[in-house]
Amino acid sequence: MYNEKLVVAFIGCGNFAKRFVPLMQAHPHVKKVYVCDLIREKAEAYAEKFGVEIIDTYEEVLASKEINAIANFTERHLHGDIVIRALKAGKHVYSAVPMAPTVEECQEIVRLVKETGLTYLMGETCYYYPCAMYCREAYKAGKFGDFTYGASQYYHHIDTISYGKRPGEGGMPPLLYPTHSTGMILSAVGSYATKVVCFGYEDKTGDGRFEKGCNYWDNVYSNQYVLMKLANGGTARVTEARTFGVAKPSSYISALYGTKGGYEFSNAQHIMIEKDQELPNKERAFVTDVSDYVNPTAMVEHKQEPDFMTRVANGEWQVHDYAKVQAEEGKRLPASFEGLPNAHMASHQFLIDDFCKAAYTGKMPALNAWVAARYTIPGLVAIESCKQGGVPLDVPDCGDAPEN
Ligand SMILES: NC(=O)c1ccc[n+]([C@@H]2O[C@H](COP(=O)([O-])OP(=O)(O)OC[C@H]3O[C@@H](n4cnc5c(N)ncnc54)[C@H](O)[C@@H]3O)[C@@H](O)[C@H]2O)c1
Repeated sequence: MYNEKLVVAFIGCGNFAKRFVPLMQAHPHVKKVYVCDLIREKAEAYAEKFGVEIIDTYEEVLASKEINAIANFTERHLHGDIVIRALKAGKHVYSAVPMAPTVEECQEIVRLVKETGLTYLMGETCYYYPCAMYCREAYKAGKFGDFTYGASQYYHHIDTISYGKRPGEGGMPPLLYPTHSTGMILSAVGSYATKVVCFGYEDKTGDGRFEKGCNYWDNVYSNQYVLMKLANGGTARVTEARTFGVAKPSSYISALYGTKGGYEFSNAQHIMIEKDQELPNKERAFVTDVSDYVNPTAMVEHKQEPDFMTRVANGEWQVHDYAKVQAEEGKRLPASFEGLPNAHMASHQFLIDDFCKAAYTGKMPALNAWVAARYTIPGLVAIESCKQGGVPLDVPDCGDAPEN
């Protein structure tokens, strides 16, 4: 099962997977890449663009003795079924987020990974966002003290999401896709949610998306806001918004506080505040602008320009450039990735490298099934809390990943 080169089938040749095929092809642990899509023309376009072979159906992928891994890039609400079938067929799994659309499917994936010993990795891009990496680093260094409160959010207007205009899918509950926000906070403070309380904004556009009878979930909320009680005694506020007045998709931690220090962020400015008991009263707080460390280098180069903030708000310089906080991590990437595409704050290459190394060596990846469940399940439970007018609900936990 391990120390074998990977033969990977991409399931789903839509908008997103194309950014990952060249990385998988270039990784030293990968022997061959196939592509598969229900819509033949989509697979053909990939085959032509990347010089890869097509495999006709998912059933053939599952039956194949040659293919030992899949990369799941199907629609968000299909992940449970696709991943469970792959694990049962003995394939390692790289899956785009979210883990699965129901709590039971998340739990089943964890159970199967435990039973089979196969590698599962959920490709949460925000895990490698500079703000998440900075907060992880500062938390580990003790700068926050004991975690008290944090806030994170993912704003992406429904009109600009690939599924936004698809019948049935466009009105998906925002918290079915919670991992960009949950992942940043939970990874920074190394904890998980035990209880949630959620409210939502009932959409008023009447455009046939967030309305009863118009989507698979009978969902009416286009924005959802959840408070999470964490196992470490802290609280996290997570917002998933699909109809906010923001220009570009954006995921960030807006604030993270502990008993000793705090991090605050707005647009392009990252601030760290630290309290020092040793100093006289009026000098007890250090305020450090850490923006040049946390923002991508290309962004830093433009910071004196008059339209800087507007360009940041419109998503500029947030694709492939590293921030200084990512530089050390960048050193472990294979040389064969040089010059290849990267996106979402330069996170793609880290994720594919993590998966290939884990599936080849058998070492547990950071974004394993146990962690994926902790990032996904609170959102699914919060959808229920929201439907019930904000009642507090317990969040089931699958525990920690086994050590290896
Ligand atoms: N930052 C991020 O992490 C991020 C960003 C964008 C998308 N995503 C994730 O990537 C995934 C893909 O998104 P997208 O926008 O490319 O979607 P998409 O709708 O463009 O593509 C999905 C494709 O999967 C195919 N498919 C579905 N079931 C299949 C099956 N059984 N066999 C073969 N093909 C099948 C569909 O025909 C479709 O072409 C989603 O799960 C999404 O959540 C993550």
